[in-house]
Amino acid sequence: MEKLLEVKNLEVSFQTYGGEVQAVRGVSFHLNKGETLAIVGESGSGKSVTSQTIMRLIPTPPGRIKNGQIIFNGEDLVKKTDKEMEAIRGKDIGMIFQDPMTSLNPTMKVGHQIMEVLTKHLKMDKSAAKERAIELLRLVGIPMPEKRVNQYPHEFSGGMRQRAMIAVALASNPKLLIADEPTTALDVTIQAQILELMKDLQKKTGTSIIFITHDLGVVANVADRVAVMYAGKIVEMGTVDEIFYDPRHPYTWGLLASMPSLDSDDKSELAAIPGSPPDLTNPPKGDGFAPRNPYAMKIDFELEPPMFKISDTHYAATWLLHPDAPKVEPPEAVKKRLRKLSSNYPQPIIVKESE
Ligand SMILES: Nc1ncnc2c1ncn2[C@@H]1O[C@H](COP(=O)(O)OP(=O)(O)OP(=O)(O)O)[C@@H](O)[C@H]1O
Ligand SMILES: [Mg+2]
Repeated sequence: MEKLLEVKNLEVSFQTYGGEVQAVRGVSFHLNKGETLAIVGESGSGKSVTSQTIMRLIPTPPGRIKNGQIIFNGEDLVKKTDKEMEAIRGKDIGMIFQDPMTSLNPTMKVGHQIMEVLTKHLKMDKSAAKERAIELLRLVGIPMPEKRVNQYPHEFSGGMRQRAMIAVALASNPKLLIADEPTTALDVTIQAQILELMKDLQKKTGTSIIFITHDLGVVANVADRVAVMYAGKIVEMGTVDEIFYDPRHPYTWGLLASMPSLDSDDKSELAAIPGSPPDLTNPPKGDGFAPRNPYAMKIDFELEPPMFKISDTHYAATWLLHPDAPKVEPPEAVKKRLRKLSSNYPQPIIVKESE
């Protein structure tokens, strides 16, 4: 499989009055062509900063890329000038956000916003661009696109704006689409439609997707692999099946236990992870999750765990995986939830044509 993106040892910090916030602390992962990687984790774990750094959209200052490489298409994005990045963002990397109004221009007709991408990056003439804009609106499921193409964003419903934003992001045929909580603001039915749409478009266009969410339930349906982030680090990484059926990090157990199951009447076992993440202006020297980890050992408070390899695709950073560590099983609540999950998702989670 061919790699589209490789992030190596990325470190990003922000200068604030309270000190230097170490938002991303040595993150490494890769993304294959045509693949969807989900990044999950609690609020403040560094998901958005990681993705914004890939697009070079973090404000500098106060932000700073302290270390690392972002190899995209064989080139290091960290070394690109702002001008070079602008061209890459419009053309090769598309993005969609939680609130479409932050990326759609309210004073410009939706059709024009799509056409602008087409004329600028694909050098289409105006009439071809208009035709393609209508086609794209149809592709993302907007009814009567010939009429909608001439409307402003405020004339669209929330779900339609989200679709329009996807149309803008896909207009340039980007190699990479970064979606940061694209559906959280939408009601459940529309969420499902948008996710379905993204999967469908990916099949047609072969775009690679980074999908950011704190809803693990969403992940099962859209992602090939999952990276679990905690306090600026990736603590576990694996295929969807590995993360859902063989989770190894106690933080992942916590996330799974706090995930609402699909049968909505059963909220009784929903347990948020007790405690809160560490202060990133003064990160702990050991495992940042140790104070919240009921299985923590002495070493967890002293030394940062390395990434232990479980399979070629599955890694986790917890001392529990050290050969000398006591054998610990996920708590009964997590196992129960996993059993429930497997009965809720009768078909295999990853449905992928073989390459
Ligand atoms: N411009 C900024 N100035 C200072 N600190 C920042 C800035 N942007 C982000 N941070 C800090 O970086 C850390 C990571 O934030 P980030 O937005 O990546 O979290 P997240 O995982 O996306 O959370 P959420 O799920 O709430 O979106 C947080 O501690 C946040 O306060
Ligand atoms: Mg975020």
